[in-house]
Amino acid sequence: MRDLREEIRDRIDLVELVSHYVQLERAGKNFKGLCPFHSEKTPSFHVSPALNRFHCFGCGASGDAFAFLMRIEGLSFREAMRRLAERAGVELRAESLPQESPDERDRLRKLVYAANFFYRQCLKRTPAAQQYLAQRGLTPETVEAFELGYAPDGWDYLLKFLQKHNFNLQEAETAGLLKAREDGEGYYDRFRNRITFPIHDAAGRVVAFGARTMGNDEPKYLNSPETPLFEKRNTFYGWHRARGEILKQRAAIIVEGYLDLIMLHQYGFAHSLATLGTAFTEDHTARLKRLVDRVYLMYDSDAAGVRAALKAGEALLQAGVPALVVSLPRGQDPDSLLRTQGADALQRALDAATPIALFGIEQIFRDVAGERNLLELEPTVKAQIVERGLRWAASLPSELDRLACLERLTPLTPAYLTSPQAALHALQQELRQHQRQQRTRRNRPAAPSPEPETNPTARLSIPKAIFQAESETLRAALYPDSAAVALEHLPEIEWQIPLHALLADQLRTLPKPPSHYAPSELLEQIQEEPLKDLLTALLMQESPPMTPEWAQGCILRLKEYALRRKRMRLAAEITQPTPHHEADLQNAEKLQEYWRIRVESID
Ligand code: CTP
Ligand code: MN
Repeated sequence: MRDLREEIRDRIDLVELVSHYVQLERAGKNFKGLCPFHSEKTPSFHVSPALNRFHCFGCGASGDAFAFLMRIEGLSFREAMRRLAERAGVELRAESLPQESPDERDRLRKLVYAANFFYRQCLKRTPAAQQYLAQRGLTPETVEAFELGYAPDGWDYLLKFLQKHNFNLQEAETAGLLKAREDGEGYYDRFRNRITFPIHDAAGRVVAFGARTMGNDEPKYLNSPETPLFEKRNTFYGWHRARGEILKQRAAIIVEGYLDLIMLHQYGFAHSLATLGTAFTEDHTARLKRLVDRVYLMYDSDAAGVRAALKAGEALLQAGVPALVVSLPRGQDPDSLLRTQGADALQRALDAATPIALFGIEQIFRDVAGERNLLELEPTVKAQIVERGLRWAASLPSELDRLACLERLTPLTPAYLTSPQAALHALQQELRQHQRQQRTRRNRPAAPSPEPETNPTARLSIPKAIFQAESETLRAALYPDSAAVALEHLPEIEWQIPLHALLADQLRTLPKPPSHYAPSELLEQIQEEPLKDLLTALLMQESPPMTPEWAQGCILRLKEYALRRKRMRLAAEITQPTPHHEADLQNAEKLQEYWRIRVESID
């Protein structure tokens, strides 16, 4: 449903749709007109073609094409969907509905539900199983909330129960509850003498089970096979319980284990999800993509865990979801950490999470150089790190992330000692080569050379990342939570974009802090059209969600950039031949400053 909605939305020209009802005129990047949803004399109804959304700064109405049509025509979502689909030329065909007959899926669901009921009853009658759960630290409330159960120790307990209630045994096999006997004579219980963990679908219906031995049987966990109800690659364990909190926090924690997940919830980390002993896939990414602004990957700290984190992180990055890797102390999993050191320890680990881009670089350092000090590495080792680092950086879709990686790599290049600027240049050139190679390797047509190769300095002078960091800092000044951080730093920022500087000045000198105005009031405070447009765009921008941390990060980036530019200027001046004594003296001072800044920026 959601994909179809997106497909339709992407094909609808919102400006065109709205202009059937509202007279729109261009206002910079956006269009504006008199709001159809409240009465007004000056236009405060904005439509952003870039965002494909509308927003009224007067009454706060906002949304996409669906929201607009529903509201203005008083339609239900289904009707709006039909109308827009027609308009977009998207056919709502019956084939796009699931293949299995709905009746069969219904019957399978009833079967799994019955089995879950049965296992839960069995747990209540089996002290040994209850003891096992208690000894694992689960409270009775948790056991209840996660509907844990017990599959009895025998071949046909569930089978008999299902028979008694007139279920079709062959369908019970399809549902993954029973297995067919090798001799073809009937069925037997799939799960025996195990704790059962029901797995729910997105709608909260039980569709499958995980089952853990209480002893040392192999395998430790048994899972339902894939069934018409259950596909591992797009299922999250814990989804139906975590969804609300994920929306609230706009973040999710991903772990691998059933018990890890349950413990996280028991200790109050209710935005946690588990993948089911399988990799974190693109389907998982798709389910999270629109709900979260960041995903914490909390895997084991062993080699397999690191590999899994990198893979998951890449899937998330490609989808534009910031991913952070949480390192747990060696040998701990979330369950054991919580039980031995409590929620605070886990929270600390979360707070110290590393963005995946840097985690990748750190792994490369560790892989190639082990625990050795960077200062004592041989040139060939450094070169190896740089080479692999560049390959990693080239695979990252975000300019900001690529830049962060290059910053880590630059000190490893020989050129860095004589000219950090030249070193960064060289790396940027190499990075572009890697990007081109990766593009051809992926057999994609190369992008029509986005930046002219002939003038790398022009690009270096204002990277896109810096542009973004500047505009994000301005945006931060508009939100109550982040305004304090942003306003404090606005005066010290060396703006690279003149328009940003102008808006910063005006925001800073308003009678009240910008976040104290309603958006439409704030717009009225600004006179110049170009600044109004910029402000509108900032106000209409919804993601990434603004937090003080994010603002801080952007400001930090700008300060680092300013420092680096200063360093480069000084470096350039130092290398100028200086015949005069006086100049030598000046140079000595500059040199000192140069080193001071450089040391600071390496820290
Ligand atoms: N897993 C599985 N099948 C197995 C082993 C593991 O499906 N034979 C999956 C389960 O989802 C399990 C996760 O991988 O929860 C992590 O496995 P592991 O680290 O071995 O176990 P823990 O989750 O630590 O389990 P426990 O704490 O119960 O020992
Ligand atoms: Mn464990």
